Amino acid sequence: MTAHPPTIDDTPAPAAALRPVMVLVCSTCKGTGDAVCEGKPGAVLAETATRLIGEEADNGRIAVQSVECLGNCSRGCSAAILSPGDWHYVFGDLDADSAADLLVGARLMGSVAEGPLPWRGRPTSLKKGMIARIPPVEYPST
Ligand code: FES
Repeated sequence: MTAHPPTIDDTPAPAAALRPVMVLVCSTCKGTGDAVCEGKPGAVLAETATRLIGEEADNGRIAVQSVECLGNCSRGCSAAILSPGDWHYVFGDLDADSAADLLVGARLMGSVAEGPLPWRGRPTSLKKGMIARIPPVEYPST
């Protein structure tokens, strides 16, 4: 996969995120296909995303966490964007340079009060690389 320029400035940040957003980044992905590169692309992606999204933080409404394996190893690098109590997304085919796209996705998710991650404004990597989307679920009470 070829490097692509950061797209941070393509999406204006809302004044404040309207809902909390968590970005999980797999730090153990090795990349696949054309995305396989020397070193540890998952670790690089997780480190860059932690710095970039950590700076964005938006008063704690946008957070990032490094995790080990999202079960999407064959299409790594992998990450997820979650909105607690709302939609969750898993992305693959990312590369070490995808941190800016994850930040754009997190901003986009936080720009709406509820519902799916908007398609318009979503970076190409988060369109083509969508592995799964999980709608809000209600757990039965016991
Ligand atoms: S090692 Fe990254 S998804 Fe499994």
